[in-house]
Amino acid sequence: MSEFLQVRDLRKSFRMGAEELHILKGVNLSVRRGELLAIAGPSGVGKSTLLHILGGLDRPTAGEVYYEGVEISRLPEGELAAFRNQTVGFVFQFHHLLPEFTALENTMMPALIGRQPLVRAQEAAKGILQRVGLAERLAHRPGELSGGEQQRVAIARALALSPDVLLADEPTGNLDSKTGEAIFDLLRELNQEQGLTVILVTHNEWFARRTDRLLRMADGQLGEVAVTRTEAE
Ligand SMILES: Nc1ncnc2c1ncn2[C@@H]1O[C@H](COP(=O)(O)OP(=O)(O)OP(=O)(O)O)[C@@H](O)[C@H]1O
Ligand SMILES: [Mg+2]
Repeated sequence: MSEFLQVRDLRKSFRMGAEELHILKGVNLSVRRGELLAIAGPSGVGKSTLLHILGGLDRPTAGEVYYEGVEISRLPEGELAAFRNQTVGFVFQFHHLLPEFTALENTMMPALIGRQPLVRAQEAAKGILQRVGLAERLAHRPGELSGGEQQRVAIARALALSPDVLLADEPTGNLDSKTGEAIFDLLRELNQEQGLTVILVTHNEWFARRTDRLLRMADGQLGEVAVTRTEAE
């Protein structure tokens, strides 16, 4: 089995008082290493819920998530944390940068939490920030960065520990189209240069036509969508 990621009959329900909300109702998905795929769908359909489960940030009600044959959704908390550290980079829908810390410090944070030596974490973070075009903004706090720059710091932070897969939840949602396209191009380059697997939640048609695959979420399930491809220039 050469699939990098396999999702089988994934279900997620939330209990709200007396009511049970069934959000994911049997999601199936196979992703090969090095793919870049987009997930679209209306607000509230469960895209973030799915991405959080794929990233080991939340657990499903039922079903399985395998990364290279290892089922993560029932790992004990310590092993799940190790999986998150080693395998996944996550870019949140709302980027969650720490406002008191600089771009460099925010990017170093995963390595510091992982108890890497300070100088090594710093050098690695500088390299990644340079890669996302922020070499001149290392000392800026999030409030001193533009929206697109903040989003690029969030991507840099997600890449800090060299993940196998980047899960990005509408990383360009609040940006103008030009900045959003630049962020998308960056993800595409990382995907092509480093073979990084990228799963992107997006509403943007322009992006969707440039990914390897577009999936649409509706009624708690994922379906493949045929789109007219536009090759990246
Ligand atoms: N912890 C929770 N408890 C109860 N309900 C929840 C919880 N998390 C999400 N939901 C509900 O699950 C549904 C799906 O939420 P989710 O955030 O996955 O949607 P989404 O597809 O990402 O939407 P958007 O495009 O607006 O970001 C929503 O109706 C939401 O209210
Ligand atoms: Mg969402």
